[in-house]
Amino acid sequence: MNNEILYLRPDIQVEPLVDQWYAWAHLIPPATAARNLTHRHLRIMDSYINAPHVHAAAVKNPKMLGGPFIDYDGGRVAEIRALRDQTKQRRADLIALSEALEQLDELLRTRAQGYSLHPLYEQVPPILRGYVELTYDLRHNASFRLIEPLLYRSPLYDASAQSLALSVTSGDDRPFILSTPRLPSEGTLHLPWTFADGRIDELFRLKQCGQTWPRIVSTLGIADADQERFRSFLTTDRPAPYARYTGNGVRWRYFGHACILVETAHVRLLFDPVLSYTYETDISRYTYADLPDVIDYVLITHNHQDHILFETLLQLRHKIRHIVVPRNGAAQLQDPSVKGMLEQLGFDNVIELSELETIDCEDCRITGIPFFGEHSDLAIGTKLAHLVTLGRVRLLFAADSCNIEPRLYEHVHRDVGDVDALFVGMECDGAPLSWLYGPLLLRSIERGMDQSRRLSGSNYDQAMGMVEAFNVKDAYVYAMGQEPWLNYVMSLKYTAESRPIVDSNRLLQECRARGLTAERLFGEREILIDSVYEAVAHG
Ligand SMILES: [Fe+2]
Ligand SMILES: [Fe+2]
Repeated sequence: MNNEILYLRPDIQVEPLVDQWYAWAHLIPPATAARNLTHRHLRIMDSYINAPHVHAAAVKNPKMLGGPFIDYDGGRVAEIRALRDQTKQRRADLIALSEALEQLDELLRTRAQGYSLHPLYEQVPPILRGYVELTYDLRHNASFRLIEPLLYRSPLYDASAQSLALSVTSGDDRPFILSTPRLPSEGTLHLPWTFADGRIDELFRLKQCGQTWPRIVSTLGIADADQERFRSFLTTDRPAPYARYTGNGVRWRYFGHACILVETAHVRLLFDPVLSYTYETDISRYTYADLPDVIDYVLITHNHQDHILFETLLQLRHKIRHIVVPRNGAAQLQDPSVKGMLEQLGFDNVIELSELETIDCEDCRITGIPFFGEHSDLAIGTKLAHLVTLGRVRLLFAADSCNIEPRLYEHVHRDVGDVDALFVGMECDGAPLSWLYGPLLLRSIERGMDQSRRLSGSNYDQAMGMVEAFNVKDAYVYAMGQEPWLNYVMSLKYTAESRPIVDSNRLLQECRARGLTAERLFGEREILIDSVYEAVAHG
């Protein structure tokens, strides 16, 4: 039996955790992690401990979807209390950092009046000294930037808080990541591995390249007590090999939301990877099992959790040749470097791309295209759309860019020319600022202001403006968060009356009336394009 070749089962869910909370992009950089710990996690846990029944009722109320409520039926108060107390004790330095960021803001508010900032350095809270540069903008408003690489090298970055939770999954239902910590449960195996641990690559290689049990145990260092459970996550069923695209055009496959695999005979590109596991389901979909062995470029559009998901990226790390991310802006609290974060997590092949910069490879050119708005008017530069040119085929992946100012893409069009197919997100009723960025705010915001500053993608007029600006032949609406396997990161459910659906229906209708191909993508889709751009739908 020891010679049997074993593979990791395709239905094994692996959640990366930080302090037992689902790891997303603001839980990695120390400053954003500190703010989320104090102003999201501790607050939610306190609230649950005080009124668990309120949480139990709220998670059943569709109007409260995505709200700050723990999805444990009100029955796990003792465990949440223990997690809260342990977090407070173990993360005292992050709690101090979070408070120091507020003190620094207060210092700048009261003492930075347009005169030199030099005397203020001595008054920066001690935990932040040497990690911030104080600056004015041109209107003499004082702010600060963080020296993130140093923060990662300081005791404030504690990778030992990271772990993986492995379990068997059989459906799309998972608690919302921003509001429910992952408590130990029957059937879940916790591995105390940091995200940069090379064993993660060995673990996920087992999906395609089997090994014998003794070899697996020694490579992964599975503790004796965990071996029986871990063995149950393996199978002797050999997965089917991947059938590469070998034509002389382009094939793209929609994996759900903003995740699209684009292939030619020579190159494979994967956009905003967020994937479903493989299990019995009514909604047909591509999954982890439908990816090539090597992905030449993974391209990330922006730092929202439905576009950069560590759960997926860690599983693919061993097969990614390059990962292209938007160049960091000003290293302010709200805009951490994606490159710096991924490098911290063990990705050693990250390329930053800027607006109108290009990357050329064999038969492919990637051009960074400005991505507007969708970040509640915060100064966040780490966002980028991508134009991909493959021979004579030109595809523009605009993700959630909100075409607020139509002249932007008219200018861009003058530079880059026409596009064959546009992929545009139309989540035009986005959440208010505080839903995602609330913990980072150093001063409270009036409700009216919060409601007015949303995380909204393009509406009908804005998306149509892009269709027209680039003279596209095909318009695809995507990134709508409607696939049920994304509920745990998105918490979005539309009805026929929801504005994103009404507006995108109108876009499809108008495009079709003009003789264009137009679709709102959902679930799974495959399109083959011949070398002179003739798109043929499959599936
Ligand atoms: Fe977004
Ligand atoms: Fe999105």
